[in-house]
Amino acid sequence: MNQISERGLWWSEARFGMFIHWGMYAVAARHEWVQSREEIHPEKYARYQDYFTPDQFEPRQWASLAKKAGMKYFVITAKHHDGYCMWDTKFSDYKVKRDYLGEVIEAFRDAGLKVGLYYSLIDWHHPDFVIDVNHPLRNAPNIDELNAPRKQKRYAKYMRDQVAELLGNYGKIDIIWFDYSYPREDGRGKGREDWESEKLLALARKLQPEILVDDRLDLPGSADFSSPEQYVPEYGIRDEEGKLLPWEGCQTFSGAWGYFRDELTWKTPGQVLAMLVKHVSRGGNLLMNIGPNARGSIDPRATNILRQVEAWMRNHQAAIHGCGAAPEEMPEAENCRYTYNAKTKRLYIHILSWPQKFLHLPKMQGKLSFARFLHDHSEIIMREEGAPHSNMSAKTSPDTVTLLMPAIAPDVEIPVVELFLRS
Ligand code: GLC
Repeated sequence: MNQISERGLWWSEARFGMFIHWGMYAVAARHEWVQSREEIHPEKYARYQDYFTPDQFEPRQWASLAKKAGMKYFVITAKHHDGYCMWDTKFSDYKVKRDYLGEVIEAFRDAGLKVGLYYSLIDWHHPDFVIDVNHPLRNAPNIDELNAPRKQKRYAKYMRDQVAELLGNYGKIDIIWFDYSYPREDGRGKGREDWESEKLLALARKLQPEILVDDRLDLPGSADFSSPEQYVPEYGIRDEEGKLLPWEGCQTFSGAWGYFRDELTWKTPGQVLAMLVKHVSRGGNLLMNIGPNARGSIDPRATNILRQVEAWMRNHQAAIHGCGAAPEEMPEAENCRYTYNAKTKRLYIHILSWPQKFLHLPKMQGKLSFARFLHDHSEIIMREEGAPHSNMSAKTSPDTVTLLMPAIAPDVEIPVVELFLRS
């Protein structure tokens, strides 16, 4: 992986996207891995098809929610591990009766968002997919017998046919998100040889020369970005010299990607916004997931969070879009995260815990021309002399700039100070 290329510029400026996990597993509503977790036989699982009747499917509403929240792109599951195809593929009958995927792509594209497709390398339905550690039939007593007729190579070809279809029939696709590899010494996992990853990647790059590809094909050095999931890397993702590499954290509102009715570990809107800020402050993107239900509608718990993200973004998007990590020589103030827009030369201080009276900014002496809150553009008084206030006996370190903060935090989820750097 290298620095982000020209063709990836839009992506690193976007910083915020929507992940959508939508498939037949929404009928079971107990994790998108339900088929594997409960070891449900593929034939039995396939019956969910009859009950997948999305009568509330309105992709324009999804798109509008994403756009208003400040998301600039989206990635949707064309096929997840269960193998059920969300578009009208020629290569399988295990598919939707209506081209939901096409409709989602059109709705989001019309709303001005860039288009990403998630394609599962894993497939628990395909008859040629060799049964492995994650497969629902992994504990079958006759596993060798079941595996005997399976030809992984035929499955690899099936994937190429499908990817060619996805990247050939829906106009410009901006991202392909392959998921995922798990090579193992004992041979019971899968990796680049099983997927024939090189061919798959070459095909994607040939059909869509500007496409961005994630890092889950088990082909080191070939990806456009890395994809940590369910945690925020503390220092971002860097090369050996410590230079930040392009990365995108993917995260969930609760504990699953697909619709999971009874899962209750939902994050608060404040946590989600802090997550967004933390990603951007370390040079990363946030791909925030929703899992629409089997009727095609978005859980009100997710909608509520997104509405609050929207309210914050309305006033604070300048601190997200086009921003990245602050220059190394500007260490963060206590309880704060910084984001920086290198074009406008503005530094954003996201205050995660409200300070008492003073906000000390280390190593900022002589570097600033003005400070204001971002939400209302009101001035914040700066003291540069090292002794920030007449009744403050202890001096700050000489290179510190001190901001005189109001006693009460502004009524926004995460207050942000916008600093104009001297040019
Ligand atoms: C994991 C899971 C999967 C989810 C993905 C998103 O690889 O297998 O369910 O789609 O992460 O990053």
